Amino acid sequence: MDNQSALWWKNGVIYQIYPRSFQDSNGDGIGDLQGVINRMDYLAKTLGVDAIWLSPFYPSPQADFGYDVSNYCDVDPVFGDLATFDKLLREAHERGIKVIIDIVPNHTSNQHPWFIESRSNRDNPKRDWYVWRDAKVDGTPPNNWLAVFGGSSWEWDEKTGQYYLHSFLKEQPDLNWRNPDVQKAMFDVYRFWLDRGVDGFRIDVAHYIMKDPELKDNPVNRDPSKGELKPTGEYGKMLHLYDKGHPDVHGIYRELRRILNSYQPPRYSVGEIHILDWKEWATYYGQNDDELHMPFNFSLLVTPWKALALRKTVEAVESVTPPWGWPNYVLGNHDEPRLASRLGLQKARQAAMLLLTLRGTPTLYNGDEFGQMNVTIPLEEQKDPWGKRVPGTGRDQNRTPNQWTPGTNAGFTAEGAIPWLPLADNYQMVNMQTELDDPASFLNLYRKLLAFRRQSNALRVGRYEAIDPVPEACFAYLRQAGNETIIIAFNMSDITMRLDLRRFGNIEIIISTELNRNGTIDAARIDLSPWEGLVMRII
Ligand code: GLC
Ligand code: CA
Repeated sequence: MDNQSALWWKNGVIYQIYPRSFQDSNGDGIGDLQGVINRMDYLAKTLGVDAIWLSPFYPSPQADFGYDVSNYCDVDPVFGDLATFDKLLREAHERGIKVIIDIVPNHTSNQHPWFIESRSNRDNPKRDWYVWRDAKVDGTPPNNWLAVFGGSSWEWDEKTGQYYLHSFLKEQPDLNWRNPDVQKAMFDVYRFWLDRGVDGFRIDVAHYIMKDPELKDNPVNRDPSKGELKPTGEYGKMLHLYDKGHPDVHGIYRELRRILNSYQPPRYSVGEIHILDWKEWATYYGQNDDELHMPFNFSLLVTPWKALALRKTVEAVESVTPPWGWPNYVLGNHDEPRLASRLGLQKARQAAMLLLTLRGTPTLYNGDEFGQMNVTIPLEEQKDPWGKRVPGTGRDQNRTPNQWTPGTNAGFTAEGAIPWLPLADNYQMVNMQTELDDPASFLNLYRKLLAFRRQSNALRVGRYEAIDPVPEACFAYLRQAGNETIIIAFNMSDITMRLDLRRFGNIEIIISTELNRNGTIDAARIDLSPWEGLVMRII
């Protein structure tokens, strides 16, 4: 293994924690940082992940549940305080777990002191820290840009007689990254956390920070292949050419990379980048390993669960990832429907196997390892502002509390406390404790895959090659490093499929998604039952 491959963010598995929903430690029904500390042994030993990414825990009015930050350099009392954060970092590092924090550079809360100053009057020195513009002569907004969460992305400010830009909620005004003072202030925020010892950042809507300097109108989208990953509402009907992703964004990430590289060991960055066009997506790796370490790759969220479609996605990723870059895959997060609900349990087991055996860093979403499902919440009880504004977009369903035990409140919060979102009805079956005792459980499949991956160079850093020919309903590939070759095969159909892998020599089954199958097998006749996935080794 060369030095590059030894890097934790290439080798390791990242686990996303949505702090509100992970573990409550003080009985207020809201998860917190002490709760994360209380589950550190689970993360390190029971599950066995290498890094955690914490969704925002900063002071926030919680208009968008923490993605509206009112102070970048502190902890919201609901989640704890800086001392608890430092303790979390220590406890993680003692167990060999890296800590990635979420940073939200595109917008602040409208309660952030910077914005309060900015909107106080037109001559305020921070006026230009946000994007303010006059109305058109007829009083309408400066251009036709729409907010992701519905409506115009311009909000009228009566007092100072101008509009300000907000790509999301009006409570989330966009910072003006063209202003050098904003750049400096935000890079200081990165440094604040780097100096505390964090290992990296997940950058919220990383490509949004630079817009067209002339604020040109967006055209209507006539080509669905060019639109949004999730074309919801009016927003999805426009082609978002000018309101995000201006090429000047790359200069910002080159500067960030210089800062990350100035620490020892260099720190890591992954950008939340929803771009469908592969070539453009890959530009965020930089020209020469000089921007983000990874743009999140969300393609598996939208690829139909079919052998050929999945293979095409994987090969697209393989072909656009620059030689120095490293691929990565995502199956779920706090913005997406739950994996087990999206695909159904059987396919979700295959998905876990795919995610943990492809070439690239996997990111898991908390609770997916138990097979947690979406929870239906009546509209009048929903909390997510997006879901309340645009029908069908609600994210509460996939943010319900982690299911730890079959006991009261699933072990998420104290007896008698009211969890901030309701628990799933099925939590007495689907939870960590119950599943640990069941060899066929979702959790034990994840544990087996994670444990095997950890000790397999081929899976962590080996090359990828698709295997041909295989039946049309199958997707098979190998991963190889040195003299270790692992073969992964999926049957994506309702009937048994037979593979002939005799040309590889002798083969041993290591993990099956379905049965407790292991040991050597006749390589000429490898039967995969419907929707089964196998990890095998050439011996
Ligand atoms: C990102 C976050 C999402 C948030 C939005 C606005 O997409 O993942 O949860 O609502 O940015 O900050
Ligand atoms: Ca709490």
